[in-house]
Amino acid sequence: MNELEYINTGVPQEEPQRQYYFMKKGRELAEELSRQAGRKLTFCVTTFGCQMNARDSEKLTGILEQMGYVEEPEEEKADFVIFNTCTVRENANMRVYGRLGQLSRMKKKNPYMMIGLCGCMMQEPEVVEKIKKSYRYVDLIFGTHNIYKFAELIVTRLESGRMVIDIWKDTDKIVEDLPNERKYSFKSGVNIMFGCNNFCSYCIVPYVRGRERSRNPKDIVREIERFVADGVVEVMLLGQNVNSYGKTLDEPMSFAQLLQEIEKIEGLQRIRFMTPHPKDLSDELIEVMSKSKKICKHLHLPLQSGSTRILEKMNRRYTKEQYLHLVEKIRAKVPDISLTTDIIVGFPGETEEDFLETMDVVQKVRYDSAFTFQYSKRTGTPAAVMEEQVPTGIVKDRFDRLLKEVQCISAEVCSVYTDTIQEILVESVNDHDETLVTGRMSNNLLVHFPGDDSLIGTIVFVRLTECRGFYYIGERIMK
Ligand code: SAH
Ligand code: SF4
Ligand code: F3S
Repeated sequence: MNELEYINTGVPQEEPQRQYYFMKKGRELAEELSRQAGRKLTFCVTTFGCQMNARDSEKLTGILEQMGYVEEPEEEKADFVIFNTCTVRENANMRVYGRLGQLSRMKKKNPYMMIGLCGCMMQEPEVVEKIKKSYRYVDLIFGTHNIYKFAELIVTRLESGRMVIDIWKDTDKIVEDLPNERKYSFKSGVNIMFGCNNFCSYCIVPYVRGRERSRNPKDIVREIERFVADGVVEVMLLGQNVNSYGKTLDEPMSFAQLLQEIEKIEGLQRIRFMTPHPKDLSDELIEVMSKSKKICKHLHLPLQSGSTRILEKMNRRYTKEQYLHLVEKIRAKVPDISLTTDIIVGFPGETEEDFLETMDVVQKVRYDSAFTFQYSKRTGTPAAVMEEQVPTGIVKDRFDRLLKEVQCISAEVCSVYTDTIQEILVESVNDHDETLVTGRMSNNLLVHFPGDDSLIGTIVFVRLTECRGFYYIGERIMK
């Protein structure tokens, strides 16, 4: 049935009611399949890429659970496998194709198996063409803009028995109040905005995530309040550039103002956010961070390059000096802040001198940690057609030198907390030693110390007794 036919059959036109209708319908269809199979049908959502995708996967999980599917951690055993894909660098794409190839064998053995693909990679027409041609056994393909329609798309697939493809170019729609299943009981990502308007010249994200749009502050606060009532103590506010939050709202509001509203939520203990762009990080935000009791002492401030010449070609809209000045301003107001960053090496035209400028910023700022990437050419972006692409050997060499420097500084910077007492949010029982738990400091560093699972989700005081490179060993103290 197409959308017009549904109008005559009592299917709600409004969202999210429409999707709840399809979740119910999908549940009936899945129950029937489950009866035929003689067992509960299972699902596995595999997430690639950033925290936005991780949050989207929680929405997919919530919808599947509403439809009666049961989570199965092992991809090969699940009846419904979804890949929520990333396309920010070429290697992310390659991993998806590799995994997809492996799944074809499983699908031959399991008649109930379905494979769904969604996320950023699906917004690229060449990718969808390739899948249509070479991976015919995929059941469902959709993109980043219509993820809220997941239930409806599953029903369409089950009723039609054919591959369903639904990709939108862009959207200005934000659908609230859909189910979602949080991965952690005590912390959660919270979307505050979608899309990106910055068009850094190397980056595919604005093309696959569409134009910037902010959620209504009331919806954000209401969602966090609900989470808190359900045991969440820490939120991570998510946006490609959180500094542009609120600009397009009917009643515009700054990100700093939003933070102040969220700070008021009783019971919420920690607020993190990702990612602020250095070009428009306001004094107001620094001020709010310096006064806040809940905003964590951590700022991820992507540098990308230390060379003003390259920054201009990247369309980052700040110079090396402006970036360094910003770091000074932040450190002056929030002295104990931990700074982390993203750096790309081998952007087209990057010379040895440009690279040394990047090394210089790394040495001056002394980051707590840095994600370093080799430039990856993304078709459709301005940088992909720039001349002077840097040869792979040179990129690798610079990458290795940068990584070494970053790690060396990071080990020194991280060790300064030895013998201090810190508030730690306990996240899990230690993977390797059951007598230990693992928690996180406000500045994002990990600490392992004796404890048990009853501490998970609580904030406790811990003395950091020993630094082991990028994490600490500690002991709990009663305060
Ligand atoms: N909106 C965020 C994050 C975007 S993607 C920001 O502005 O920082 C995460 C990181 O991937 C970027 O910070 C950048 O360092 C890296 N990245 C993006 N495109 C890339 C490309 N084509 N090649 C290599 N790294 C890239
Ligand atoms: Fe990409 Fe730049 Fe937007 Fe970040 S701000 S998502 S790097 S275009
Ligand atoms: Fe990747 Fe999309 Fe995030 S391209 S980094 S998953 S926004």
